[in-house]
Amino acid sequence: MEAVAIKSTDKELTWHLACHVDDVPANGGACVLIEGRQIALFNFARRGEWYATDNECPHRQQMALARGMIGSQGDEPKVACPFHKKTFSLTDGRCLSDEGYQINTYPVEVRVGLVYIGLEG
Ligand code: FES
Repeated sequence: MEAVAIKSTDKELTWHLACHVDDVPANGGACVLIEGRQIALFNFARRGEWYATDNECPHRQQMALARGMIGSQGDEPKVACPFHKKTFSLTDGRCLSDEGYQINTYPVEVRVGLVYIGLEG
């Protein structure tokens, strides 16, 4: 998925059109390319929430997190990398299974069927 357009600019965030809500499977993820950056976008339908993170897993630099399984650890939404199952919080990106790793997370907004991701700058 590469369709990208700048929607609007806030003080600190630029909102980028990522895709239509139907482009991301319920309780699954998709990779979107925004300004050359691969971002994993998750439609966590069971929770009624959307999340965006880096697509790259920092463990072995695999572009894989969009294909990871999502779930919850207590109240914490998480994604498990499909390679070696390291799990990351979808809210703040910290690795829940190994303190040595961290990913970036990005704000998501859904407006009239379209999904936007906010990037700094
Ligand atoms: S590459 Fe993701 S857990 Fe190893």
